[in-house]
Amino acid sequence: MSDPHNWEDASNPDALAPTAEDWARLAELREAFLAAEGAKTTESYWRSRRDFELYDATFAERIGWKWDAVLRELALRGRMPRGRSVVDWGCGTGVASRRFLAASGGAEKIYLVDRSKQAAWFARDTLVAASPKLQVTLHAPAAAEPIDVLLASHVLGELDPSTRAEFLALALRASAVLLVEPGTHAVSRVLGAVREELLEHFDVLAPCTHSLSCGALAPGREGDWCHFFARPPAEAFTSAFWRRFSDELGIDLRALPYSFLALRRKGERLEARGARVLGRPRLLKGRALLEVCDASGLATRTLFERDAKKLFKRLDRSGELLLADVRCDGERIVEFTPLVEG
Ligand SMILES: C[S@@+](CC[C@H](N)C(=O)[O-])C[C@H]1O[C@@H](n2cnc3c(N)ncnc32)[C@H](O)[C@@H]1O
Repeated sequence: MSDPHNWEDASNPDALAPTAEDWARLAELREAFLAAEGAKTTESYWRSRRDFELYDATFAERIGWKWDAVLRELALRGRMPRGRSVVDWGCGTGVASRRFLAASGGAEKIYLVDRSKQAAWFARDTLVAASPKLQVTLHAPAAAEPIDVLLASHVLGELDPSTRAEFLALALRASAVLLVEPGTHAVSRVLGAVREELLEHFDVLAPCTHSLSCGALAPGREGDWCHFFARPPAEAFTSAFWRRFSDELGIDLRALPYSFLALRRKGERLEARGARVLGRPRLLKGRALLEVCDASGLATRTLFERDAKKLFKRLDRSGELLLADVRCDGERIVEFTPLVEG
């Protein structure tokens, strides 16, 4: 087994060397996460430190790729929240804080909150190994303590109404909130509901280009959901470890759907401009259907190849950040001017 106090070691898939039992345990954990969705059970699924090592190198790493996509978007849009005190709520092994601290330039203090104290211990060990000066607290901040950035990932779908209310109360104390969740219809809509509940006090940094009601939650749009696809790093396709992961667990590594929400407490004016394309463009012969979301709502629009040849070629790339000034003539996109190159 790898050295539990060595973060480099714990996050290195080669040092992990999973056995057949480990792969079986990962499959079991995956089932447990699915069962926890919709708060169908509130029992902790973590059993041992080995669970954390296995999770951190696999499922958490994939969640880390989603965080990378979100943090990249925030950086490209010039909207990265920063602060001295950060809360990672439902921290698990701490992947959200690790990714956020690396992308945002760090923090002084971090609160790791998890109903499993063993998870919070593991997260603390990995964080302190990477940032020895970080002050780590293993519970939520007291009422008088400021929260600059509240992070949470892959946990909202597990909350029953009372824990969700507890979470929202904490969010209301934060200056910024970053949430990253699976890109499923159900969880994305939970995130949409959280957005609606917090809108009175917050502006939306991303993915939306406005802070009005969510277009995907509008009447008649019940089949839609706000989600995106992250681009996994090259090693996901080249390493023996990830090939084995994909074979053992039947997971297609190319598809990394996620939903997310980045909020900032109302204050300084935030420019509302442009539209964000959701999901993946549907490529047809000579044209593509795009789910275009902006302040006027969510609408399916058609981009003809002949109108935008260069852009059209990029549309099948997973992880493409499609944020643009979009002008339409009826349903047809006549101008698509990217606001960021990503
Ligand atoms: C699927 S894991 C995700 C962990 C981590 N955020 C990540 O993205 O890898 C969900 C975590 O939330 C924790 N959790 C679930 N319900 C919770 C609650 N009511 N309060 C605090 N933590 C909770 C679980 O113990 C688990 O560690």
